[in-house]
Amino acid sequence: MRAVIATEPGGPDVLTLEERPDPHPGPGEVVLDVAASAVNRADLLQRQGHYPPPPGATEVLGLECSGTVREVGEGVERWRVGDQACALLAGGGYAEQVLVPAGQLMAVPSGVDLVTAAALPEVACTVWSNVFMVAGLQPGELLLVHGGAGGIGTFAIQLAAAVGATVAVTAGSAAKLETCRSLGASITVDYRQQDFVQVLKEATRDRAGGPGADVVLDNMGAAYLARNLDVLATSGRLVVIGMQGGRKAELDLGMLMRKRAAVVATTLRARPAAEKAAVCAAVEEHVWPLVADGSVRPVVHDRFPLTEVASAHATVEESSHVGKVLLTVRP
Ligand SMILES: NC(=O)c1ccc[n+]([C@@H]2O[C@H](COP(=O)([O-])OP(=O)(O)OC[C@H]3O[C@@H](n4cnc5c(N)ncnc54)[C@H](OP(=O)(O)O)[C@@H]3O)[C@@H](O)[C@H]2O)c1
Repeated sequence: MRAVIATEPGGPDVLTLEERPDPHPGPGEVVLDVAASAVNRADLLQRQGHYPPPPGATEVLGLECSGTVREVGEGVERWRVGDQACALLAGGGYAEQVLVPAGQLMAVPSGVDLVTAAALPEVACTVWSNVFMVAGLQPGELLLVHGGAGGIGTFAIQLAAAVGATVAVTAGSAAKLETCRSLGASITVDYRQQDFVQVLKEATRDRAGGPGADVVLDNMGAAYLARNLDVLATSGRLVVIGMQGGRKAELDLGMLMRKRAAVVATTLRARPAAEKAAVCAAVEEHVWPLVADGSVRPVVHDRFPLTEVASAHATVEESSHVGKVLLTVRP
Protein backbone atom coordinates (compact mmCIF):
# COMPACT_ATOMS: atom_id res chain seq x y z
CA MET A 1 0.00 0.00 0.00
CA ARG A 2 1.01 3.65 -0.36
CA ALA A 3 1.26 5.89 2.72
CA VAL A 4 2.53 9.37 3.64
CA ILE A 5 5.42 9.97 6.01
CA ALA A 6 7.59 13.00 6.78
CA THR A 7 11.08 11.98 5.60
CA GLU A 8 12.65 14.58 7.95
CA PRO A 9 11.35 17.48 10.07
CA GLY A 10 10.39 20.37 7.79
CA GLY A 11 7.83 22.12 5.59
CA PRO A 12 5.06 20.49 3.52
CA ASP A 13 7.60 19.34 0.90
CA VAL A 14 9.05 16.70 3.28
CA LEU A 15 5.76 14.78 3.02
CA THR A 16 6.38 11.74 0.84
CA LEU A 17 4.05 9.07 -0.50
CA GLU A 18 5.92 5.78 -0.26
CA GLU A 19 5.27 2.06 -0.57
CA ARG A 20 4.75 0.19 2.74
CA PRO A 21 3.76 -3.38 3.63
CA ASP A 22 -0.01 -3.98 3.83
CA PRO A 23 -1.20 -4.11 7.47
CA HIS A 24 -2.97 -7.23 8.84
CA PRO A 25 -5.18 -7.21 11.92
CA GLY A 26 -4.20 -8.80 15.21
CA PRO A 27 -6.82 -9.77 17.82
CA GLY A 28 -9.33 -6.95 18.39
CA GLU A 29 -8.15 -5.02 15.32
CA VAL A 30 -9.61 -4.17 11.94
CA VAL A 31 -8.00 -3.08 8.66
CA LEU A 32 -9.81 -0.41 6.65
CA ASP A 33 -9.45 0.43 2.96
CA VAL A 34 -9.21 4.19 3.48
CA ALA A 35 -11.67 6.38 1.55
CA ALA A 36 -10.42 9.67 3.01
CA SER A 37 -8.45 11.19 5.85
CA ALA A 38 -8.26 14.79 7.09
CA VAL A 39 -5.53 17.24 8.07
CA ASN A 40 -5.31 18.16 11.75
CA ARG A 41 -3.12 20.95 13.16
CA ALA A 42 -1.31 18.24 15.13
CA ASP A 43 -0.20 16.70 11.79
CA LEU A 44 1.67 19.92 10.98
CA LEU A 45 3.48 19.67 14.33
CA GLN A 46 4.31 16.01 13.69
CA ARG A 47 5.70 16.90 10.24
CA GLN A 48 7.84 19.64 11.84
CA GLY A 49 9.24 17.13 14.34
CA HIS A 50 7.46 18.63 17.38
CA TYR A 51 4.81 15.94 17.98
CA PRO A 52 6.17 12.40 17.63
CA PRO A 53 3.69 9.49 17.46
CA PRO A 54 3.00 7.86 20.86
CA PRO A 55 4.98 4.65 21.59
CA GLY A 56 3.84 1.79 19.34
CA ALA A 57 2.00 4.04 16.86
CA THR A 58 2.95 4.17 13.18
CA GLU A 59 5.02 7.06 11.79
CA VAL A 60 2.49 7.35 8.93
CA LEU A 61 0.55 10.58 9.49
CA GLY A 62 -3.20 10.85 9.94
CA LEU A 63 -5.32 10.95 13.11
CA GLU A 64 -8.64 10.06 11.48
CA CYS A 65 -10.15 8.47 8.43
CA SER A 66 -13.18 6.90 6.84
CA GLY A 67 -13.25 3.71 4.81
CA THR A 68 -14.48 0.18 4.19
CA VAL A 69 -13.60 -2.81 6.36
CA ARG A 70 -11.06 -4.96 4.47
CA GLU A 71 -10.04 -7.50 7.13
CA VAL A 72 -11.24 -8.30 10.66
CA GLY A 73 -9.07 -9.69 13.47
CA GLU A 74 -9.91 -12.40 15.99
CA GLY A 75 -12.51 -11.48 18.59
CA VAL A 76 -14.03 -8.56 16.69
CA GLU A 77 -17.81 -9.01 16.83
CA ARG A 78 -19.29 -5.76 15.59
CA TRP A 79 -17.59 -5.29 12.21
CA ARG A 80 -17.74 -7.35 8.98
CA VAL A 81 -15.76 -7.12 5.72
CA GLY A 82 -17.45 -4.50 3.51
CA ASP A 83 -18.87 -2.39 6.38
CA GLN A 84 -18.37 1.36 6.11
CA ALA A 85 -16.95 3.20 9.11
CA CYS A 86 -14.95 6.17 10.29
CA ALA A 87 -12.14 5.96 12.82
CA LEU A 88 -10.16 7.85 15.45
CA LEU A 89 -6.48 6.96 15.00
CA ALA A 90 -3.17 7.36 16.83
CA GLY A 91 -1.69 7.64 13.31
CA GLY A 92 -1.77 5.98 9.90
CA GLY A 93 -4.76 7.68 8.23
CA TYR A 94 -2.80 9.18 5.29
CA ALA A 95 -2.62 5.78 3.60
CA GLU A 96 -4.47 3.35 1.36
CA GLN A 97 -5.00 0.97 4.32
CA VAL A 98 -4.93 1.47 8.06
CA LEU A 99 -4.94 -0.75 11.14
CA VAL A 100 -7.51 0.34 13.77
CA PRO A 101 -8.35 -1.01 17.25
CA ALA A 102 -12.00 -2.07 16.79
CA GLY A 103 -13.19 0.21 19.62
CA GLN A 104 -12.03 3.25 17.68
CA LEU A 105 -14.24 2.52 14.68
CA MET A 106 -17.54 4.34 14.54
CA ALA A 107 -20.52 4.01 12.23
CA VAL A 108 -20.81 6.64 9.50
CA PRO A 109 -23.59 8.93 10.74
CA SER A 110 -26.73 8.71 8.68
CA GLY A 111 -26.90 11.35 5.92
CA VAL A 112 -23.10 11.75 5.65
CA ASP A 113 -21.24 10.29 2.65
CA LEU A 114 -18.22 8.06 3.27
CA VAL A 115 -15.56 10.59 2.16
CA THR A 116 -17.05 13.46 4.18
CA ALA A 117 -17.22 11.19 7.24
CA ALA A 118 -13.41 11.50 7.46
CA ALA A 119 -13.95 15.08 8.68
CA LEU A 120 -15.72 13.93 11.83
CA PRO A 121 -13.80 11.61 14.21
CA GLU A 122 -11.18 14.04 15.59
CA VAL A 123 -13.50 17.00 16.01
CA ALA A 124 -16.40 14.97 17.39
CA CYS A 125 -14.23 13.01 19.86
CA THR A 126 -12.20 16.06 20.95
CA VAL A 127 -15.19 18.34 21.42
CA TRP A 128 -17.43 15.75 23.08
CA SER A 129 -14.72 14.47 25.45
CA ASN A 130 -13.52 17.93 26.49
CA VAL A 131 -16.54 20.21 26.41
CA PHE A 132 -19.07 17.65 27.63
CA MET A 133 -17.31 14.73 29.39
CA VAL A 134 -14.63 16.87 31.11
CA ALA A 135 -16.17 20.35 31.40
CA GLY A 136 -19.79 19.19 31.66
CA LEU A 137 -21.28 22.01 29.58
CA GLN A 138 -24.99 22.37 30.36
CA PRO A 139 -27.89 23.81 28.34
CA GLY A 140 -28.15 27.53 29.10
CA GLU A 141 -24.44 27.85 29.93
CA LEU A 142 -22.01 29.94 27.90
CA LEU A 143 -19.14 28.31 25.98
CA LEU A 144 -16.27 30.40 24.62
CA VAL A 145 -14.54 28.68 21.69
CA HIS A 146 -11.18 30.07 20.62
CA GLY A 147 -10.41 29.61 16.93
CA GLY A 148 -14.11 29.23 16.10
CA ALA A 149 -13.53 28.94 12.35
CA GLY A 150 -11.07 26.02 12.54
CA GLY A 151 -11.87 22.31 12.38
CA ILE A 152 -12.45 21.95 16.11
CA GLY A 153 -14.09 25.36 16.37
CA THR A 154 -16.74 24.89 13.67
CA PHE A 155 -17.81 21.61 15.27
CA ALA A 156 -17.76 22.92 18.85
CA ILE A 157 -20.01 25.87 17.93
CA GLN A 158 -22.63 23.63 16.35
CA LEU A 159 -22.60 20.95 19.04
CA ALA A 160 -22.87 23.43 21.91
CA ALA A 161 -25.62 25.38 20.16
CA ALA A 162 -27.48 22.12 19.44
CA VAL A 163 -27.64 21.24 23.14
CA GLY A 164 -28.92 24.71 24.04
CA ALA A 165 -25.74 26.49 25.18
CA THR A 166 -24.88 30.07 24.21
CA VAL A 167 -21.71 30.21 22.13
CA ALA A 168 -19.04 32.91 21.94
CA VAL A 169 -16.06 32.64 19.57
CA THR A 170 -12.80 34.24 18.63
CA ALA A 171 -11.54 34.22 15.03
CA GLY A 172 -9.10 36.20 12.92
CA SER A 173 -11.32 37.92 10.32
CA ALA A 174 -14.78 39.36 9.77
CA ALA A 175 -15.55 36.69 7.16
CA LYS A 176 -14.62 33.87 9.56
CA LEU A 177 -16.73 35.43 12.32
CA GLU A 178 -19.67 35.59 9.92
CA THR A 179 -19.29 31.83 9.29
CA CYS A 180 -19.20 31.24 13.06
CA ARG A 181 -22.45 33.20 13.41
CA SER A 182 -24.06 31.11 10.66
CA LEU A 183 -23.08 27.98 12.62
CA GLY A 184 -24.72 29.20 15.83
CA ALA A 185 -22.31 31.58 17.62
CA SER A 186 -24.05 34.62 19.07
CA ILE A 187 -21.05 36.53 20.50
CA THR A 188 -18.10 37.01 18.14
CA VAL A 189 -14.68 38.54 18.76
CA ASP A 190 -12.05 39.40 16.16
CA TYR A 191 -8.95 38.46 18.13
CA ARG A 192 -6.77 40.66 15.92
CA GLN A 193 -8.76 43.80 16.77
CA GLN A 194 -10.60 43.20 20.04
CA ASP A 195 -9.95 41.94 23.57
CA PHE A 196 -12.15 38.89 24.13
CA VAL A 197 -12.33 39.45 27.91
CA GLN A 198 -13.71 42.95 27.46
CA VAL A 199 -16.20 41.95 24.75
CA LEU A 200 -17.45 38.92 26.66
CA LYS A 201 -17.81 40.66 30.00
CA GLU A 202 -19.70 43.48 28.33
CA ALA A 203 -21.98 41.09 26.40
CA THR A 204 -22.78 39.03 29.53
CA ARG A 205 -23.00 41.92 32.02
CA ASP A 206 -26.62 41.19 32.97
CA ARG A 207 -26.48 37.38 32.75
CA ALA A 208 -28.20 35.53 35.60
CA GLY A 209 -25.12 33.39 36.31
CA GLY A 210 -22.85 36.46 36.34
CA PRO A 211 -20.59 37.82 33.59
CA GLY A 212 -18.12 35.64 31.72
CA ALA A 213 -17.94 32.16 30.21
CA ASP A 214 -18.92 28.95 32.02
CA VAL A 215 -16.61 26.89 29.81
CA VAL A 216 -13.67 27.95 27.63
CA LEU A 217 -12.30 25.61 24.95
CA ASP A 218 -8.77 26.88 24.37
CA ASN A 219 -6.26 26.18 21.60
CA MET A 220 -3.79 28.93 22.56
CA GLY A 221 -2.32 27.72 25.87
CA ALA A 222 0.17 30.05 27.55
CA ALA A 223 -0.64 33.18 25.56
CA TYR A 224 -4.28 33.14 26.69
CA LEU A 225 -4.03 31.56 30.18
CA ALA A 226 -4.34 34.79 32.22
CA ARG A 227 -7.14 36.20 30.06
CA ASN A 228 -8.96 32.85 29.95
CA LEU A 229 -8.99 32.81 33.74
CA ASP A 230 -10.18 36.40 33.79
CA VAL A 231 -13.05 35.63 31.40
CA LEU A 232 -14.29 32.60 33.40
CA ALA A 233 -17.52 33.03 35.35
CA THR A 234 -17.85 31.68 38.91
CA SER A 235 -17.47 27.88 38.81
CA GLY A 236 -16.12 28.17 35.26
CA ARG A 237 -14.07 25.45 33.55
CA LEU A 238 -11.13 26.16 31.26
CA VAL A 239 -10.14 23.23 29.04
CA VAL A 240 -6.83 23.67 27.24
CA ILE A 241 -6.42 21.43 24.18
CA GLY A 242 -3.75 23.29 22.21
CA MET A 243 -0.52 25.22 22.75
CA GLN A 244 -0.51 27.42 19.65
CA GLY A 245 0.49 30.31 21.99
CA GLY A 246 3.12 28.40 23.98
CA ARG A 247 3.23 25.90 26.86
CA LYS A 248 4.45 27.77 29.96
CA ALA A 249 2.66 30.60 31.78
CA GLU A 250 1.89 31.80 35.30
CA LEU A 251 -1.39 30.71 36.88
CA ASP A 252 -3.11 33.08 39.36
CA LEU A 253 -4.32 30.59 41.97
CA GLY A 254 -5.98 33.39 43.94
CA MET A 255 -8.27 34.15 41.01
CA LEU A 256 -8.87 30.43 40.47
CA MET A 257 -9.90 30.06 44.15
CA ARG A 258 -12.13 33.15 44.19
CA LYS A 259 -13.96 31.88 41.13
CA ARG A 260 -14.01 28.27 42.36
CA ALA A 261 -12.86 27.55 38.83
CA ALA A 262 -11.03 24.62 37.22
CA VAL A 263 -8.25 24.40 34.65
CA VAL A 264 -7.84 21.12 32.78
CA ALA A 265 -5.54 20.26 29.89
CA THR A 266 -5.97 17.08 27.86
CA THR A 267 -4.77 15.31 24.76
CA LEU A 268 -6.70 12.60 22.99
CA ARG A 269 -3.97 10.90 20.96
CA ALA A 270 -1.89 9.50 23.81
CA ARG A 271 -4.81 8.03 25.77
CA PRO A 272 -5.05 4.23 26.13
CA ALA A 273 -7.19 2.45 23.53
CA ALA A 274 -9.88 1.63 26.12
CA GLU A 275 -10.38 5.32 26.93
CA LYS A 276 -10.54 6.22 23.25
CA ALA A 277 -13.10 3.47 22.74
CA ALA A 278 -15.23 4.95 25.54
CA VAL A 279 -15.06 8.37 23.87
CA CYS A 280 -15.99 6.86 20.48
CA ALA A 281 -18.96 5.03 22.03
CA ALA A 282 -20.15 8.25 23.70
CA VAL A 283 -19.82 10.12 20.40
CA GLU A 284 -21.91 7.51 18.59
CA GLU A 285 -24.55 7.72 21.32
CA HIS A 286 -24.72 11.49 21.87
CA VAL A 287 -23.27 13.22 18.81
CA TRP A 288 -24.21 11.10 15.77
CA PRO A 289 -27.96 11.60 16.29
CA LEU A 290 -27.38 15.38 16.08
CA VAL A 291 -25.41 14.90 12.87
CA ALA A 292 -28.10 12.59 11.48
CA ASP A 293 -30.89 15.11 12.17
CA GLY A 294 -28.88 17.95 10.59
CA SER A 295 -28.33 19.99 13.80
CA VAL A 296 -24.57 19.49 13.39
CA ARG A 297 -22.94 19.16 9.98
CA PRO A 298 -19.39 18.47 8.86
CA VAL A 299 -17.82 21.71 7.61
CA VAL A 300 -15.39 20.89 4.79
CA HIS A 301 -13.25 23.68 3.35
CA ASP A 302 -11.56 21.69 0.58
CA ARG A 303 -10.52 18.22 -0.61
CA PHE A 304 -7.10 17.24 -1.94
CA PRO A 305 -6.07 13.84 -3.34
CA LEU A 306 -3.48 12.09 -1.14
CA THR A 307 -0.86 12.81 -3.83
CA GLU A 308 -1.37 16.54 -3.11
CA VAL A 309 -0.90 16.23 0.65
CA ALA A 310 1.70 19.05 0.65
CA SER A 311 -0.89 21.53 -0.67
CA ALA A 312 -3.40 20.35 1.94
CA HIS A 313 -0.85 21.01 4.71
CA ALA A 314 0.03 24.42 3.26
CA THR A 315 -3.66 25.39 3.31
CA VAL A 316 -4.02 24.56 7.01
CA GLU A 317 -0.65 26.10 7.84
CA GLU A 318 -1.64 29.48 6.42
CA SER A 319 -5.05 29.23 8.16
CA SER A 320 -6.90 30.13 4.97
CA HIS A 321 -9.39 27.33 5.71
CA VAL A 322 -12.71 27.26 7.52
CA GLY A 323 -13.54 23.86 9.01
CA LYS A 324 -11.75 20.75 7.76
CA VAL A 325 -9.40 19.96 4.88
CA LEU A 326 -9.88 16.43 3.52
CA LEU A 327 -7.40 14.08 1.86
CA THR A 328 -9.13 11.74 -0.54
CA VAL A 329 -7.70 8.28 -1.09
CA ARG A 330 -10.63 6.55 -2.84
CA PRO A 331 -12.85 9.54 -3.73
N1 LIG B 1 -5.74 17.99 22.84
C1 LIG B 1 -6.35 17.31 21.91
O1 LIG B 1 -6.72 16.16 22.09
C2 LIG B 1 -6.60 17.96 20.59
C3 LIG B 1 -7.31 17.28 19.57
C4 LIG B 1 -7.55 17.96 18.36
C5 LIG B 1 -7.09 19.26 18.20
N2 LIG B 1 -6.38 19.86 19.20
C6 LIG B 1 -5.89 21.26 19.07
O2 LIG B 1 -6.99 22.08 18.80
C7 LIG B 1 -6.56 23.20 18.01
C8 LIG B 1 -7.43 23.31 16.78
O3 LIG B 1 -7.14 22.20 15.93
P1 LIG B 1 -7.68 22.15 14.44
O4 LIG B 1 -7.21 20.89 13.83
O5 LIG B 1 -9.11 22.51 14.43
O6 LIG B 1 -6.82 23.33 13.78
P2 LIG B 1 -7.22 24.49 12.79
O7 LIG B 1 -8.38 24.12 11.95
O8 LIG B 1 -5.96 24.89 12.11
O9 LIG B 1 -7.66 25.65 13.78
C9 LIG B 1 -6.72 26.44 14.44
C10 LIG B 1 -7.38 27.74 14.79
O10 LIG B 1 -6.50 28.53 15.60
C11 LIG B 1 -6.98 29.83 15.45
N3 LIG B 1 -6.08 30.84 15.99
C12 LIG B 1 -4.83 31.19 15.59
N4 LIG B 1 -4.38 32.20 16.37
C13 LIG B 1 -5.36 32.50 17.26
C14 LIG B 1 -5.49 33.45 18.31
N5 LIG B 1 -4.50 34.30 18.61
N6 LIG B 1 -6.65 33.47 19.01
C15 LIG B 1 -7.65 32.61 18.74
N7 LIG B 1 -7.58 31.70 17.76
C16 LIG B 1 -6.46 31.65 17.02
C17 LIG B 1 -7.17 29.99 13.96
O11 LIG B 1 -8.08 31.02 13.76
P3 LIG B 1 -8.10 31.96 12.43
O12 LIG B 1 -7.96 31.03 11.27
O13 LIG B 1 -9.42 32.63 12.52
O14 LIG B 1 -6.94 32.90 12.54
C18 LIG B 1 -7.74 28.61 13.60
O15 LIG B 1 -9.14 28.63 13.51
C19 LIG B 1 -5.09 22.97 17.71
O16 LIG B 1 -4.32 23.69 18.62
C20 LIG B 1 -4.93 21.47 17.92
O17 LIG B 1 -3.61 21.12 18.24
C21 LIG B 1 -6.14 19.23 20.37
